[in-house]
Amino acid sequence: MSIKPSRGKPLDVGAIGLGPDALPAMADTAAQSRFDFRAWWPEDRRELPYELEIGSGKGTFLVQQAQQMPDTNYLGIEYAGQFARYAADRLRRHNLNNVRMLAYDAAVFVEWFCPDASFRQVHIYFPDPWPKARHHKRRLIQTPLLRQLHRVLTPNGFVRIVTDHDDYYAWIEDHVAQVTDLFERQPFERPIGAGEGEVVGTNFERKYRREGRPFNALSLRKL
Ligand SMILES: C[S@@+](CC[C@H](N)C(=O)[O-])C[C@H]1O[C@@H](n2cnc3c(N)ncnc32)[C@H](O)[C@@H]1O
Repeated sequence: MSIKPSRGKPLDVGAIGLGPDALPAMADTAAQSRFDFRAWWPEDRRELPYELEIGSGKGTFLVQQAQQMPDTNYLGIEYAGQFARYAADRLRRHNLNNVRMLAYDAAVFVEWFCPDASFRQVHIYFPDPWPKARHHKRRLIQTPLLRQLHRVLTPNGFVRIVTDHDDYYAWIEDHVAQVTDLFERQPFERPIGAGEGEVVGTNFERKYRREGRPFNALSLRKL
C-alpha cells in the first residue's frame, strides 16, 4: 500500500495520533507498567465504553465505525508508523474526537500497558497472514495474546476477527480451541460501520472483495 499525504499537504495527526512517547516507561514487570490510558481522551469522555482495533492500517474501519458510534471511544493501534500517521490525519479531518491512534506494537501494549477490563470489544481485521511456516511465529494470533485479550476485555466482551486467508483461519481456530475456558464462539455480527454487502468494510476487505476472495469471520465472547 502506498501512502500519499492528502492533497499534497503534510500529515497532521493533531490530538488523535500518539506515539511511543505517550506511554510510561516500562517497569520491571508488565503488571507494574499498566496505566490509565483513558487520560488520552478529554475528561468528559473518559467514563464512556472503549473498543480497540489492532492493525488499523489506513484507518478505514475506525473512520466509519467511530462516526456511527459517537458515544464509544476507539483506540486504534498500528505499528507501521506511516500508516498510523496517515490514519490519524484522516480521523482528524473527520473531526472524530472519540478516536486515538497509537503507533506501537499492539501485543506489547495489551500485555504491558493495558489494565484489566478495559475494552468492550477488540477488532482484528485482516491480520497479516505470514504464510511461510518459518514465519508463523510472527502471526498476531497466538495463545498468550488470546489470554491477554481475555484479561483486558470487560465482562461478556467480544474479540472479533476477519481474515481472507484459509490457512491462517485454521490456525486461529486451533488457537481458539486451546482457550475454550476463556471464550465461547458466537455468530459474527457485522459492525454498524460496514457498508452494503461488506463484512466489516476495511481497506483490505475492499481490495480482496474486488479479487473475489471469500472471507472467514469469527466472534468470541469472554466467559
Ligand atoms: C493486512 S493489514 C490490514 C489493515 C486493516 N485492518 C485492513 O483490513 O485494511 C495488517 C495491519 O496490521 C498491522 N499490524 C500487524 N501486527 C501488528 C501489531 N502487533 N501491532 C500493531 N499493528 C500490527 C500491520 O502493520 C498492517 O498495517
